[in-house]
Amino acid sequence: MSWHASIPAEEVHAKGAVGVEVDGLRLGLYALDGEIFCNGNICTHAFAILTDGHVVDGCIECPLHQGLFDIRSGKAMGPPVARDIPTYAVKVEDGIVWIDTE
Ligand code: FES
Repeated sequence: MSWHASIPAEEVHAKGAVGVEVDGLRLGLYALDGEIFCNGNICTHAFAILTDGHVVDGCIECPLHQGLFDIRSGKAMGPPVARDIPTYAVKVEDGIVWIDTE
């Protein structure tokens, strides 16, 4: 376990999708149905920052070629994306989102 503090949970809930850099990793934080999820923020197809895209039915849509990844599981949902994005455990303590980068 390697927990790192990131940003206030309130900010994630307000924006819906936020990119952060934690422990040298570019990560995306998402608010879905009152819960917060964390994934790698670089598309596995080419180089794009996923949180620059849109959230559609529980997926993040890549801004470059519209590949979809399931926010809860990181699963690549079909062409043009084939490789999943990593997911990370999160917890909220005193209003701050903590991310386990291991
Ligand atoms: Fe994300 Fe192509 S870079 S779908």
